Amino acid sequence: MEVKTSLLDNMIGVGDMVLLEPLSEDSFLENLKKRFDHNEIYTYIGSVVISLNPYRSLPIYTPDKVEEYRNRNFYELSPHIYALADEAYRSLRDQDKDQCILITGESGAGKTEASKLVMSYVAAVCGKGQEVNKVKEQLLQSNPVLEAFGNAKTVRNDNSSRFGKYMDIEFDFKGDPLGGVISNYLLEKSRVVKQPRGERNFHIFYQLLSGASDDMLKKLKLERDFSKYNYLSLDSATVSGLDDAANFRTVRNAMQIVGFMEDEMQSVLELVAAVLKLGNLDFKPESRCNGMDESRVKDKNDLKEMCELLGIEQSVLERAFSYRTVEAKMEKVSTTLNVAQAYYARDALAKNLYSRLFSWLVTRINESIRAQAKTRHKVMGVLDIYGFEIFEETDNSFEQFIINYCNEKLQQIFIELTLREEQEEYVREGIEWTNIEYFNNAVICDLIENNQNGILAMLDEECLRPGTVTDETFLDKLNTICAEHQHFESRLNKNSKFLNDHSLPHNCFRIQHYAGKVLYRVEGFVDKNNDLLYRDLSQAMYKANHSLIKQLFPEGNPAKVNLKRPPTAGFQFRASVGTLMGNLQTKNPNYIRCIKPNDKKAAHIFTDSLVRHQVRYLGLMENVRVRRAGYAFRQAYEPCLERYKMLCKNTWPHWKGPARQGVEVLMTDLQVPAEEFAYGRSKIFIRNPRTLFFLEEKRKQCLEDLATLIQKIYRGWKCRSHFLLLKKSEIVVAAWYRRYAQQKKYQKIKHSTTVVQSYTRGWQARKLLRELKYQKKCEEAVTTIAAFWHGTQVRREYRKFFRANAGRKIYNFTIQRIMQKYFLGLKSNLPSMSPIDKSWPARPYSFLEGVHAELRRIFHLWRCKKYRSQFTEEKKAVYEEKLEASELFKDKKALYPSSVSQTFKGDYLEMVKNPKYQKLSSAIDEKILLADVVNKINRANGKSSPRLFLLTKKSVILADQKTGQVKTSLPLPDLSSVSTSTQSDGFFALKLKEVRRKWFEVYLFF
Ligand SMILES: Nc1ncnc2c1ncn2[C@@H]1O[C@H](COP(=O)(O)OP(=O)(O)OP(=O)(O)O)[C@@H](O)[C@H]1O
Ligand SMILES: [Mg+2]
Repeated sequence: MEVKTSLLDNMIGVGDMVLLEPLSEDSFLENLKKRFDHNEIYTYIGSVVISLNPYRSLPIYTPDKVEEYRNRNFYELSPHIYALADEAYRSLRDQDKDQCILITGESGAGKTEASKLVMSYVAAVCGKGQEVNKVKEQLLQSNPVLEAFGNAKTVRNDNSSRFGKYMDIEFDFKGDPLGGVISNYLLEKSRVVKQPRGERNFHIFYQLLSGASDDMLKKLKLERDFSKYNYLSLDSATVSGLDDAANFRTVRNAMQIVGFMEDEMQSVLELVAAVLKLGNLDFKPESRCNGMDESRVKDKNDLKEMCELLGIEQSVLERAFSYRTVEAKMEKVSTTLNVAQAYYARDALAKNLYSRLFSWLVTRINESIRAQAKTRHKVMGVLDIYGFEIFEETDNSFEQFIINYCNEKLQQIFIELTLREEQEEYVREGIEWTNIEYFNNAVICDLIENNQNGILAMLDEECLRPGTVTDETFLDKLNTICAEHQHFESRLNKNSKFLNDHSLPHNCFRIQHYAGKVLYRVEGFVDKNNDLLYRDLSQAMYKANHSLIKQLFPEGNPAKVNLKRPPTAGFQFRASVGTLMGNLQTKNPNYIRCIKPNDKKAAHIFTDSLVRHQVRYLGLMENVRVRRAGYAFRQAYEPCLERYKMLCKNTWPHWKGPARQGVEVLMTDLQVPAEEFAYGRSKIFIRNPRTLFFLEEKRKQCLEDLATLIQKIYRGWKCRSHFLLLKKSEIVVAAWYRRYAQQKKYQKIKHSTTVVQSYTRGWQARKLLRELKYQKKCEEAVTTIAAFWHGTQVRREYRKFFRANAGRKIYNFTIQRIMQKYFLGLKSNLPSMSPIDKSWPARPYSFLEGVHAELRRIFHLWRCKKYRSQFTEEKKAVYEEKLEASELFKDKKALYPSSVSQTFKGDYLEMVKNPKYQKLSSAIDEKILLADVVNKINRANGKSSPRLFLLTKKSVILADQKTGQVKTSLPLPDLSSVSTSTQSDGFFALKLKEVRRKWFEVYLFF
């Protein structure tokens, strides 16, 4: 349910000045201050929004706020710029009315910020989609680009717009943005070459030098140091809270989004760099033979670099700073320029270069953001024009005059449109209207713009007049023509009442603007209005080999030389302001009146006198009075009835019938005096705010009662709903439980049935199985009986064909046959005769097991016998020896297996044959059984000595190996034992009996 609220809810002071009671300038200011102190920077005067600059960011521009104000009526919520933007957007979208948002106020009052807020709000609430978002983004991103090139720090504002901007945003029938067109008004180009104290040049110069990469600066032939450039004032080159380097990146990014090509951006920066270089050009006089001085460029390095940047031939530009060609019909005269003229030419070129670049930027942005579709558009125009400016004393020049003229026009359109709108509303609603006195500044506008004797016309006349024209001659002219005008003041006029006014210097004139008196110094008026650029310079620029420069100076094209003077600056401005005013008058106006709370650019400070001054000249009091003269408050019948219907029993809670009748019943019931209000066609008009407050007060009381009633009903409703909910839940729970119980019961029955069924089926199946098994057994018995029966029958039938014992005979015969086959097979498969051959044919039948083994044994014994029978007596002895050795050493000495194959010689030394041992062998008279060389180990020291070892049947003899002399002879009975080791060595030990103590043990080895 949508919550209906009102501007009147939770008001701080009054949200709408029309409701201020009592109304006076003091109460007006007090109300503004009270609201300002509570961060309520917006206040209404009817449909006009007053905006106070908070000089700090407030959390009132969040997406939530956008949603809050979206599609809400103007007076529904507390005053906000979003409410105005929403109202304008909705009446554009829904009622097809073109809108314009006029933002006025003096410099630093917050116009540019307000215009951006309006644009961002509209962008947030209008349609979405890829294409639409791109358009929105381009429209929004045009702001940083234009601000970089057209804004500068001034003493009043760190981001002061130095040009006027009017932007038409175009929408389709659905309210989706299609594109836009930007118009720019008179850039303050004098700033390029000179800035007042405490002010800066345009932001872009500082942004470029701070933010560009070293590489880029090198390409642009620039240095980062601001002090290197004459055109950049140094006293406030850096502004606190302004990050030039970061802003440079933002601007480049914005240019990209808007659709600038990389080479276009480069060209633009080249031009900016060229302006800086231009400022560094210095001139020196050079005497000519005719006695005149001619200017020459002093240091040509900057000139050279600038020419390289712009692709201009250096000599051409150099000449243009020394000579000036004047063309008249058929004649061409060349005159020299002195140093002062050269400086003038240089500055004029810099100003022109920059201002034309700025206009080109606007045109280029327009190319990108222009609506593509050719269908009819609805338009919302946002005007952010420079604010009214009054400098100290005599610092106001041509620019301020133009700016203030523009503000004068805007004030007039404000007066005209607000009054007209007010009047029209009364007429529309059929309400009687009485005229209100207010100051109409049309008379000041006339003083400035009148075609015959207006100041601008005088200036033009003076500029075009042949003969000597100076600012003084212009002032003389003004003095004669405008002297009588009540808003013009000058001392030079003989009849002037200001003859003794010392605050008015002789070279100045003063205009009483709607916003106050402004003293203008005439110096420079003629020049600035002429805005002349020597043709030689424009031609030099046209010759440049740089596509952008060429475009900016079309008049330099020699083929299109135009001898007619170009329109003056004043004329152009008057024309464009005229077009703008015409344009604005066709649209439904929405006003934002910006007010600057203090001169210090500081938050929380409300300077009473400053605000009072602005309130005065903006005519805000008159605005309120006009608004209240007829009726202070008006409201459509429906919302009025909706808001106050609770004050009367007949209209509460519902009124069935037209809303107007309802309001009539309500007012009668409340006994509001008839002169306090009037019934219009669609609205009720309340004359006095008191009446409204009376209604509000009553409503507040009634709301409290209603709140109790609502509370009561709500509580009752809540309890009842709770009870009903519980009841409903109980039914649901019961239903579910019953269902569950039934389900369980059913499942139980189903389960039991299945069990009974399965038992029955099992029992039936088993019974059937038994029967079938019985049947099968019967069938098998029948078959067996039948087989036996048949067997008996067959045997009985065939018995007569068989003799008794045939079986045994057949058996014996079979056995014999098998045995015969076995023996024959064995005979042919007998193994070899070698006693060590272990093979034996396989056993054919298991019943031959015993026979087969026995035959194998017999065969082996026989084979061995056969083998033995071939032995001679010697061989037999050898084998016996071997047998003996086997019994002694087999499995006891590791060396034994290797000795089996060696034949035992005994006399290895061949004692008999060997002459060496002849003597020894003759000394032994017994038969030598064994002779060999051994090493005797000496038991005392473990040393060994070779000995001849001889064995006879009776003794063991050890003899010297060399001499063959017997060393020891041991009778065998003296030996108690001979031992060997189990290892694979040749050791043996002879153990002697006790008698041979000395030789108790002898260790020998082979
Ligand atoms: N609504 C706002 N919220 C916060 N700060 C604001 C607001 N409006 C203005 N300001 C501050 O005030 C400064 C000046 O505002 P702005 O540039 O809009 O003034 P202006 O009226 O356009 O001045 P000029 O005529 O010199 O261009 C801004 O830079 C910003 O710091
Ligand atoms: Mg601005």
